[in-house]
Amino acid sequence: MSSGSLPDLSGTVALVTGAGGMIGAGIARRFAAAGAAVAVHYRTSREPAERLVAEVRAAGGRATAVPADLRDAEQADGAVRATVAAFGRIDVLVNNAGVQPVRALPEMPPEQWQEVMTGNAAVTFLATRAAAARMIERGGGGSIVSIASIEGSQPAFGHAHYSAAKAAVLMHTRAAALEYGRYGIRVNAVSPGLVERDGIERDWPDGVARWRRAAPLTRLGTPEDVGNACVFLASPLASWITGQNLVVDGGVSAHPTW
Ligand SMILES: NC(=O)c1ccc[n+]([C@@H]2O[C@H](COP(=O)([O-])OP(=O)(O)OC[C@H]3O[C@@H](n4cnc5c(N)ncnc54)[C@H](OP(=O)(O)O)[C@@H]3O)[C@@H](O)[C@H]2O)c1
Repeated sequence: MSSGSLPDLSGTVALVTGAGGMIGAGIARRFAAAGAAVAVHYRTSREPAERLVAEVRAAGGRATAVPADLRDAEQADGAVRATVAAFGRIDVLVNNAGVQPVRALPEMPPEQWQEVMTGNAAVTFLATRAAAARMIERGGGGSIVSIASIEGSQPAFGHAHYSAAKAAVLMHTRAAALEYGRYGIRVNAVSPGLVERDGIERDWPDGVARWRRAAPLTRLGTPEDVGNACVFLASPLASWITGQNLVVDGGVSAHPTW
């Protein structure tokens, strides 16, 4: 898809969490291509975040890097404040930051369960609350998109904690849509399927082959596929859509399960 066919988001400001990571970078690139000013949030991936900021600026866009550990309420609020300080407002939050370790349920330590619940669900809650507070202060209006996963609706081996946490993200999305709707703030989720990353074919040939067989569109997703869905949900094209989960999985969810 060419950037010319994206909705026009010029004049809007988007904060993308975890944008030093793979999918977050793709999401931030699509918002920048749509004309939005982008706050590129990172926790430890400072260099990739700063490279992305430089790339967006070199292409004529507006971007700034914003650090925070989103498990901490004060830092989550700080990321939103830094976005407003850089660009004067915040219109869009994409809750992309998350953690996805793999561990079989019988061997799963309680600490890892907690880490994955906090690292996916609590970070989404804290950033959403912080961004919505600024949107309301400004008189309301805005859009929040949370990256869940098809595993929030369908379990996967080694991901009991992750599936439960993404299910929590999906319900948080609906609850937030319910409570923030009267302020004109729309809250939706995007549930990606398996997304390409460097080396995935080499590291997990069996998983990739199974995915290709199960996907009607026969390919893995790209970070840009996920970003396009986020841009759509954040744009005026989705002005009457809130509390929904947009599945972006090449059709895997349409595959018979038995
Ligand atoms: N990859 C897939 O196939 C897939 C499929 C479905 C859904 N997803 C979801 O898509 C999102 C992005 O995944 P990805 O594959 O791009 O993973 P990734 O490359 O590991 O990126 C995730 C980013 O989240 C950030 N993060 C984690 N914990 C954080 C915290 N406490 N505070 C602030 N930032 C934190 C990390 O930031 P730093 O690196 O700066 O520390 C990391 O860059 C996740 O929510 C994931 O669950 C991925």
